[in-house]
Order: sequence, then structure tokens, then C-alpha cells
Amino acid sequence: MKTISYSQFGDADVLQMTEVVTPSVTDKTVLIKVKAVSINPLDWKIRNGEMKLMSGSKFPKKIGIDFSGVVEDTGNSIKSYKKGDQVFGLLNVFKGGALAEYIVAEEKDIAPKPKKISFEQAAAAPVVGSATIQIFQTLVSVQRGSEILINGGSGGIGMFAIQIAKMKGAIVTAVVSTSGLKVAKDWGSDFVIDYRKDDVLKAGKLYDIIIDLSNKMPYTKATTILKSSATYVHTAPGPKEIISSFLTNIFSNKKYKVLMLKPSLSYLITLTKYIDLGLSILVSKGYPFNDFKKAYTEVPKEQTIGKAVIVVGEETIESVSAIEP
Ligand SMILES: NC(=O)c1ccc[n+]([C@@H]2O[C@H](COP(=O)([O-])OP(=O)(O)OC[C@H]3O[C@@H](n4cnc5c(N)ncnc54)[C@H](OP(=O)(O)O)[C@@H]3O)[C@@H](O)[C@H]2O)c1
Repeated sequence: MKTISYSQFGDADVLQMTEVVTPSVTDKTVLIKVKAVSINPLDWKIRNGEMKLMSGSKFPKKIGIDFSGVVEDTGNSIKSYKKGDQVFGLLNVFKGGALAEYIVAEEKDIAPKPKKISFEQAAAAPVVGSATIQIFQTLVSVQRGSEILINGGSGGIGMFAIQIAKMKGAIVTAVVSTSGLKVAKDWGSDFVIDYRKDDVLKAGKLYDIIIDLSNKMPYTKATTILKSSATYVHTAPGPKEIISSFLTNIFSNKKYKVLMLKPSLSYLITLTKYIDLGLSILVSKGYPFNDFKKAYTEVPKEQTIGKAVIVVGEETIESVSAIEP
């Protein structure tokens, strides 16, 4: 079977398609024929070597975290799945390996694919959906009427965060670029701000919660528009942010939280409930498997509204929605 790996840190050119033996199930694992794999900022941050502390520097490394697919075989101890079941899930964030024709996953890393969404949409959901649910369950407390600012609202986490915050009754302001204004409104934002035209820091409004998804609004800036006991979330923390958040939380009423994704089956199940309630998942870009280098070259450089995925296998990319400019 074909898989994608790399033997040194670098840009998309380090990625290689190789032919390897199709993995076999062990007692407690499931063999999955992959249908689609999503593209996440974490993929290229790990591949560039920006996250060596967490990923380690041992090669070869594999790429791709979240996926959808069909169960091909099950280990003897697996009771919840059988051949032919449609599933979605995520592999170890720092080891990856989802971008392959077949993968082996543990039962705790997969859930039944929500019926009403396509394989592409299902692959797009696990990392950003789990991150959003982790933020709302463990980092911030969203009440009916909470004023929440989502800085970077038209990307992966933004798409889930806007919709779930609205389902919880929050008043949502999304900061997006011009091309993201329409979707941010469609997902339910009460207010949208175009960061290319207006500066949310100068808009004169204070927030109960700020979630920065752009990595461009540090706590030192966000604090100027936080209410007195409000919470700020940094989603791409390095050692500096982790230390700053620790110190801020000792000395300030305002809370500074950092996201460190800890995938959990319960997040996939909660995600499925939101999808059943009508949460929409926009996949605006789809690449065939053979175009993996193009995908990992273009997506980090270009704007993506919602998510981008790589489709594995013979399937055509029919369900990818086109975005009008
Ligand atoms: N810590 C963890 O465990 C963990 C887990 C998952 C994700 N993450 C991180 O969380 C972050 C968000 O993830 P994601 O998947 O949602 O990324 P994404 O899809 O790339 O979204 C980032 C958004 O930021 C927007 N943006 C860029 N510049 C901006 C600015 N100056 N002001 C406001 N918005 C701006 C982008 O909009 P335009 O494209 O329109 O410019 C884009 O919509 C990433 O850094 C990712 O690595 C961390």
C-alpha cells in the first residue's frame, strides 16, 4: 500500500510516497481503508521541525492526523466494529500516519462516522472539532449571553467554535478576512469584523472570552479588550506562552489559558451529537492522494475557508463545496 513519510524536517518537498506492506490488525486494533485525511496547521508545524520538543527528531516520520474510512478488518477483542463500518477519528497527534491507503487504529481513537456527512467532511472534523470541544469543556465556561470573540473565525477551529458557541447561547463576534465574512455570518456569528479593514482592539467592545486562532493576538494585546474576570485562550502555545499563562493566572483576575489537545473518544462522540444537531462542516478544498505535495504546499500559503482534505483511493472529490470569492 501507499503511504506518505519524510526523513528530514523541511517544506513539502521532503514528503515522499512509498510502497509499504499493508499493516495487519493486532488483538485490540482495527484496520481501516482510508477515504479522506484532513490537512491541519499541526501537520506542517511538525514537518517543519517547529514542534521538535513534542514530536522528537527520530525519522522516518509520517504525516496526517485525522481521517475517515471504512473498517477492513478487526482484532479478536474488537466488539464494537465489523468489516464495512464507516468510521472517523484521529491518530496520535505527534506521530501522525493517517495519510496512507490503510491505517491501524485503536478503538479509543475512532467513532462511527456521522451518517449525514460525507467522508471528506468526517475527515475534516476530528482535530479541529476535538480542539473546540476541549476548549469549551475544559478552558472556558460559555454561558447564555457570554460575549465571545473568535479571532480567526473562518478556518477549521473557527468553523466549529462559532457554531458551538451559538448553540450554547453566546453572543459571537468573529474576526475574519474579507473572504470569510459570509461563512462566519452563515455559521451564526452575531458580529463579524474584517481584520484587513478594522482593528478589533480599537472597536471599543469588551469580551468575556477571547479565543485566538490566528496566533497574531497575544495575551498582552487581548487583555485590553477583556472584561475584568474574562478568559483568553492561546491555541498555539510555545514554552513562552505556557510560562506567561501560568504567571498571569497567579497575579491576575483575568485568565490566560493554553490549548494542548488531548484527543478523547468522548470528544468524538460529543462532536457527533453536534453534527446530528445540525453543525455544518465546510470542506472548501480537496486534493487527490497523488497531489499530496501540492496540497501541503498550497494550504499553508493560501487562505482556506473551513477545511482542506486529501482524498485517498479512487473516489472523486464530489462533495467538496466551492466557495464563491
Ligand atoms: N494546541 C493544540 O493542541 C492545537 C490543536 C489544534 C490546532 N491548534 C492550532 O490552533 C490554531 C488554529 O487552528 P485552525 O485549524 O483553526 O487553523 P486555520 O484553519 O489555519 O485558521 C486560522 C485562522 O486565522 C485567521 N487569521 C490569520 N491572520 C489573522 C489575523 N491577523 N486576524 C484574525 N484572524 C487571522 C485565518 O484567516 P485567513 O486565512 O482568512 O487569513 C484562519 O481562518 C493553529 O495555530 C493550530 O496549529 C493547536
